[in-house]
Amino acid sequence: MSMQSSPEIEALFSERRDFPPPADFAAQSNARPDIYEQADRDFEGFWAAEAERKLSWVQKWTTVLDWQLPYAKWFVGGKLNVAYNCVDRHVENGLGSKVAYYWEGEPGDTRTLTYADLQREVNKCANALLELGVRTGDRVGIYMPMIPELPIAMLACAKIGAPHVVVFGGFSAEALQGRMVDAEAKLVITADGGNRRGKVVDLKASADEAVAGAPTVEHMLVVQRTGHEVAMTAGRDVWWHDIVDRQSDQCEPVAVDSEHLLYLLHTSGTTAKPKGVMHTTAGYLLGIATTHEYIFDIKPDDIYWCAADIGWVTGHSYIVYGPLANATTSILYEGAPDHPAPDRWWSIIEKYKVNILYCAPTAIRSFMKHGDEWPAKHDLSSLRLLGSVGEPINPEAWLWYRRAIGGDRTPVVDTWWQTETGMILITPLPGITTLRPGSATRPFPGVGAKVVDAMGNEVAPGSGGGYLVLTRPWPAMLRGVYKDPERYQQTYWSRYPGMYFTGDGCKIDADGYYWLLGRVDDVMNVAGHRISTIEVESALVDHPAVAEAAVVAKNDPVTGQAIFAFVILRSSAQPSDALAGELREHVGHKIGPIARPKQIMFTPELPKTRSGKIMRRLLRDIAEQRPLGDVTTLADSGIVETIREKAQSSQAEQLV
Ligand code: WTA
Repeated sequence: MSMQSSPEIEALFSERRDFPPPADFAAQSNARPDIYEQADRDFEGFWAAEAERKLSWVQKWTTVLDWQLPYAKWFVGGKLNVAYNCVDRHVENGLGSKVAYYWEGEPGDTRTLTYADLQREVNKCANALLELGVRTGDRVGIYMPMIPELPIAMLACAKIGAPHVVVFGGFSAEALQGRMVDAEAKLVITADGGNRRGKVVDLKASADEAVAGAPTVEHMLVVQRTGHEVAMTAGRDVWWHDIVDRQSDQCEPVAVDSEHLLYLLHTSGTTAKPKGVMHTTAGYLLGIATTHEYIFDIKPDDIYWCAADIGWVTGHSYIVYGPLANATTSILYEGAPDHPAPDRWWSIIEKYKVNILYCAPTAIRSFMKHGDEWPAKHDLSSLRLLGSVGEPINPEAWLWYRRAIGGDRTPVVDTWWQTETGMILITPLPGITTLRPGSATRPFPGVGAKVVDAMGNEVAPGSGGGYLVLTRPWPAMLRGVYKDPERYQQTYWSRYPGMYFTGDGCKIDADGYYWLLGRVDDVMNVAGHRISTIEVESALVDHPAVAEAAVVAKNDPVTGQAIFAFVILRSSAQPSDALAGELREHVGHKIGPIARPKQIMFTPELPKTRSGKIMRRLLRDIAEQRPLGDVTTLADSGIVETIREKAQSSQAEQLV
């Protein structure tokens, strides 16, 4: 395992540019300064108080936390329903006419859904699921574009206690199939297609290909979004408008146990097979509702926009469940940030007078590249808070975001968390914390975190880097890896006894600020998307021309990291640009376009240790054109030089 640290963060690590909370922001902040001390004194008590205040229970819990390492149960004995908490109770409380989502399609069409609209649609969809044979506990796959039916489908599942398994619409048929097989899904909800950069993404065709190899799937429920011609399989496929629209708009929420499975979400780990991360009901909902309220300082009249895709955990927690639990008004946007022009987001912010924007550093860096003139065309003065998530944010991008988007006025909260953590864990509280660009600052109240060295000893503040670990259970934590307890134990709980291993490198400065340094394992982070090196390698060797492949992440000014693939061809194949292009497409087909290598280099050999392990560290050095690290354990040290020379002589053509 090696420590990858961005040189930019390294260089700026000691540089102090602090931003204390503006006085007027601090004065109206949801979180009060004593929240840290209060939560630390009794973290179970802290969460219990929030659970009473924030959630509606059908039956109250008896035990706050049952912690049998590594398995946590929160709010044991409690019963509740997530959809009721996110929708119905708000309507009962007189918020039926409050807007839940302002939706904007990429072509410019719009829809507004109030909480009452959402309630009706969720109930009709839930009744359709029941008619199609879905029962409490059955898994439902969801493979959709960013249209209102996506959160509606998720909430409908939650309403009847059927765990959903959302698969990002940019994933391939094969990726969808693997997840549906793993989850043994009974039904898949999809759409004919979605709009992306002016083109139609043909989701139905991919769903057909996936379901052909997922024998547990009995039906497909298909939303008509684009209206292009798609094949419908008689007896299996049903149009949403044929079955959902004619249902009753009344549906009783099913009260489930606090620990009932709410959803599975697959994420990349260090093997080729993605892990089905399990999130349950009460603790998850509480964790995201609480963090959403304090970190985004949500007020009843705020217009909030988390510009992620619901297919990732950020969308599950901070577009769907967190904001809805808090009765927030959100923006939902279907398409690409730069379509038809690089000011699409800024025009949306101006149009809806958005107050809070939450997005990924990759988006910020690409807007920065487009230039200040695009945001400058719009009135962004409604913004009062900005957030960042998904990858380390370099101080330069942080400062640009605050200045060019936040008008030199808004706090910027850099929030660290993972699919596994369910909720934000390391973050500023904007009314309390003095911000330091590039740092996610400190653990959320009640959260236990430490930085440790390879031996598991705590690294003192101000004294260098180590690994971020979590020392206390938290309510939204994953409850396991689906059908694979061994992997759960192994991946997260075996490296340091009693502590959760995050896989992230981290430093704590002398003031106790956390600086996240990126993954220390074989997980890459490309434009905020998690992809494992081994997944891409398996996709490459699946191509008949490829004998062997090794994949590493290379630093990239926009996407944070980019995929660099070293490929050894079979003797029957000849290296060419055309073949490189074909291999990229092959990976795109196996996993999804986000996993296509940016650069492919054909090489006769790979550097290996005497025991036959590929030395990725050296490959990273080659990809970065850095001086080579230690090569003494290499079986044939000449190989590295050969590859490196090749890399230097043909750097230009390899950009495919
Ligand atoms: C990285 C996304 C630095 C980290 C919510 C983590 C970050 C992985 C930050 C999880 C941040 C996320 N600063 N790195 N603010 N937020 N990461 O599961 O490496 O898609 O382990 O969850 O993204 O990615 P995932």
